[in-house]
Amino acid sequence: MKDLTIAFIGAGNMARSLVNGLLAAGVDAGHIRASDPDAGQRARLAALGIVAVDTNRQAVAGADVVVLAVKPQVLGDVLSELPVEAGQLVVSIAAGVPLEALERWTPAGTAIVRCMPNTPALLGAGITGLFANPAVSAGQRASADAVLASAGRTVWVDDEDLLDAVTAVSGSGPAYFFYLMEAMIDAGEALGLDRDTATLLTLETAYGAARMAREGDEPPGRLRANVTSPGGTTERALSILDDGGVRQALNDAIAGAAQRARELAKDIGQS
Ligand SMILES: NC(=O)c1ccc[n+]([C@@H]2O[C@H](COP(=O)([O-])OP(=O)(O)OC[C@H]3O[C@@H](n4cnc5c(N)ncnc54)[C@H](OP(=O)(O)O)[C@@H]3O)[C@@H](O)[C@H]2O)c1
Repeated sequence: MKDLTIAFIGAGNMARSLVNGLLAAGVDAGHIRASDPDAGQRARLAALGIVAVDTNRQAVAGADVVVLAVKPQVLGDVLSELPVEAGQLVVSIAAGVPLEALERWTPAGTAIVRCMPNTPALLGAGITGLFANPAVSAGQRASADAVLASAGRTVWVDDEDLLDAVTAVSGSGPAYFFYLMEAMIDAGEALGLDRDTATLLTLETAYGAARMAREGDEPPGRLRANVTSPGGTTERALSILDDGGVRQALNDAIAGAAQRARELAKDIGQS
């Protein structure tokens, strides 16, 4: 991994996060390149010590891994003009762009990994779902994993359709937690706390609960049962959530997000 040359096409937020992660993981800055038409974006990445160039052609020439970090809407044009070389691994982080389209825009037999990262990747705390086409070798799979692992955890799926489920659970997932936080802050305020205090209580509780679920051995259902005493306050709150159909609504919301991911992929795939 440390010997690979990695080219980023598009030097925006995600590219910057991945570059920061790769540098922190010990990758030599001289092995990382990025291209972007925006001089400001290039300057921000050049400040990290990597090679910033203004044409995508310069970035891909001789690279081992080409990371597509442009918006999905421009990806078709970018990729059709990109001289992808034999043996290069193409890693797309563009949300919702199906492999079928990526394969159509690249030379036959190109090794491609399609990824679905999420926004906490910007802090190095993301999780990315990855799917490889059959042309990807074991070594290239490890390279793609290492690039995305620089922004958090990774999980591979063996069926591309499962990336829609990844999108619905973790891609859109941060927004579900923000929504819950907003509702808890509003409720705390309604009970007389000032907004800053309600926010502090909510955010620290979310952080602590996530750490317990992540670092302990017990699944969330057990952790919930552990803090729910019969006849107590938590039991009252949870029974009101159940009576309000919140669990079912979350199930429907995530299924709806997956359905929307399928629709969007179909639209992009036809372009
Ligand atoms: N941000 C997230 O949390 C997140 C999560 C999951 C997936 N993603 C995916 O990651 C990708 C990048 O997202 P982002 O948030 O990093 O977007 P971004 O900050 O807008 O970065 C994209 C960069 O690509 C540049 N660009 C536009 N046209 C180009 C071209 N022809 N050649 C090279 N570069 C070009 C843009 O320049 P201009 O600004 O001048 O157009 C911009 O600097 C997207 O496909 C998105 O779906 C992002």
